[in-house]
Amino acid sequence: MYKNKKVIENLFKKKIKLIKEYNKHYFEMDNPKVDDATYDKLKDELLELEKKYIFLKSIDSVSKIIGSPPSTKFKKIKHHKPMLSLSNSFNKDDMEDFLSKISNFLNYRNGNGIELYSEPKIDGISASLVYENGLLTRGLSRGDGVTGEDILENLITIKQIPRNLSKFNLPQTLEIRGEVYINKSDFLKLKDKFANPRNAAAGSLRQKKSKETAKIPLKFLAHGFGAISEKIFNSQSDFNLKLKRWGFVTNENNQLLKGILEIERQHKLIEEQRSKLEYDIDGLVFKVNDISLQNRLGSTANSPRWATAYKFSSEKATTKINEIIIQVGRTGAITPVAKVEPVNVGGVVVSNATLHNEEEILRKDIRIDDTITIQRAGDVIPQVLSVDKSKRSKTSSKFIFPDRCLCGSKTVKEISKSTKKVDAVRRCQKGYDCDFIAKERLKHIVSKDAFNIEGLGKKVIENFWALKLINKPSDIFRLNYKKIEKLEGWGDQSIGNLKNAIKKAKQISLNRFIYSIGIRHIGQENAKTLADFFKNISEFKLLFNEETREILLDNLIDLDGIGETQIVSIDSFFSKKQNVRIVESLIKELSIADYIKKTKAGTLSGKSILITGGLEKLSRAEAKNLAEENGAKVLGGISRKLNYLVIGNSKPTKSKIEKAKSLGIKIVTETEWYKILKI
Ligand code: IVH
Repeated sequence: MYKNKKVIENLFKKKIKLIKEYNKHYFEMDNPKVDDATYDKLKDELLELEKKYIFLKSIDSVSKIIGSPPSTKFKKIKHHKPMLSLSNSFNKDDMEDFLSKISNFLNYRNGNGIELYSEPKIDGISASLVYENGLLTRGLSRGDGVTGEDILENLITIKQIPRNLSKFNLPQTLEIRGEVYINKSDFLKLKDKFANPRNAAAGSLRQKKSKETAKIPLKFLAHGFGAISEKIFNSQSDFNLKLKRWGFVTNENNQLLKGILEIERQHKLIEEQRSKLEYDIDGLVFKVNDISLQNRLGSTANSPRWATAYKFSSEKATTKINEIIIQVGRTGAITPVAKVEPVNVGGVVVSNATLHNEEEILRKDIRIDDTITIQRAGDVIPQVLSVDKSKRSKTSSKFIFPDRCLCGSKTVKEISKSTKKVDAVRRCQKGYDCDFIAKERLKHIVSKDAFNIEGLGKKVIENFWALKLINKPSDIFRLNYKKIEKLEGWGDQSIGNLKNAIKKAKQISLNRFIYSIGIRHIGQENAKTLADFFKNISEFKLLFNEETREILLDNLIDLDGIGETQIVSIDSFFSKKQNVRIVESLIKELSIADYIKKTKAGTLSGKSILITGGLEKLSRAEAKNLAEENGAKVLGGISRKLNYLVIGNSKPTKSKIEKAKSLGIKIVTETEWYKILKI
């Protein structure tokens, strides 16, 4: 193919230059220029060339250039306490929802009396600083939230990070969390290298050489705490004052406030000032100010209940609808999507906008060819805000919502068992028989919170599906690698990584497994509750059989978070023979670990409780949390193992009390219960 030495040499040099450039973007700037497949392909070509033409070795060494993967760049260290993320809110309704959720949890009449601390949300990179006896000993990146990377060397190049706080007589361990960022004006000097200030901060922070980091004017703004050995502040605002005293920079625009009206006012005020601020912000964080309330509220799997990020309604743009298509979700939900004339909205080219559901289209009378205003908030799919009817042609006609799924079968609007209302969403009822649902279920199975298989993303699933490499979940564990090897973009390295990731995923905990199989209304929290109830996969399998299922479902109603909606959903999932078959064949590929609930050490360690009826002082959710925080286990039903049955004033279940009495279990009132808890 190659005519002479010179040609080969030039080709080799060209490719070497390219791979060096890719490396620079990947390793140094943290901003990959190409996808993994393209990179792997180039790498393979280079190795191939080198193997074929030995003389090339004297020009450059390919193996040296390829380097090591970034995961080994920094030491990995587990956080003392996980670094969670924040739930997002986008409008007044969401914020009202946030307030009512926390007031329900705390058993308050409404959320308007709860003091909140509002802080601008800087768009940077979060970091954790651990001070031991006042000295900075640890500096970690967030990583995956559980394990971070040791970037202390780089962090100490930031002037705003104090290294010695020993003169302040601090608790022995004090973990400060905050945001590393770069000012807009400083970013201008770097803008050829990075797409935005956030990337610039991330890239600089992850430089291999701290000397390189030191050249970049990174800043640090403190906004939270992690592990702390002694309580020395009672509120977020108090903590903020202490931070300032210790020499940290905190945000000048932080504000204490209450209620939805003040939330809206503050949000509007800061949004107006946004463009004048020295740094990029993408919203406000609202935190419950009182730390003891924060502790009572605790967190869900991913984010604290006591805080939310109220995002700015970012940019809007006008465009035209070319087409309205439907998408099918893993629960069969049909979502209409507007394919629009591509338009730039705040730096991102948008060509799709969600239309939510049939009702929304009817209400706004949205039609094909309409001129519309769209809005993009955060990283969610843009929404259609309004239609400019004056620009509509006379021949335009109402959009008729398809009553069939993409698979061809009829869709239905279900009637909710609990509210008796007709659902706004149409659904395909075919389950795995619908190719579109089946594909979405596969995407869910491999996702981060489920089997977490890296290298098997949505696009790969689509691709493998089209090539008939995957058709059901168990196929993931029986991939035909001989076929994959021949596909474009797959090299030895990417296949090796995929094999490893899949092998690792075979070991899965029961709660993750339950979440993964994708029963509607069973999210991560409910999956944990169910795993705690069933304990191991063989007990869980009793759901597959109609008779045992009926008995089990009757018992589930006692579990917190599991109501009629969830029970109906579990029943309908397992009454489909095909679902059972598919789940069974998946189980065969796996090793599913029994659920071991992490109980905390406390006054009630080793004890179990059950609450029946509503309590006066606490919501059920908080009562459960509180018992668990004190080391107790909250059981789903009365059994011999039960230590205490707590009876609330409002509608306790008689049969439970009777049963507890007959088993000689200690029965306590709400007040007695608090005495036991010593609160
Ligand atoms: S509090 C449990 N406060 O936003 C998480 N976060 O989307 C508590 N962020 O990872 C975070 N400004 O990096 C908090 N004033 C602020 C913040 C802030 C920016 C970042 C932070 C976090 C991310 C969550």
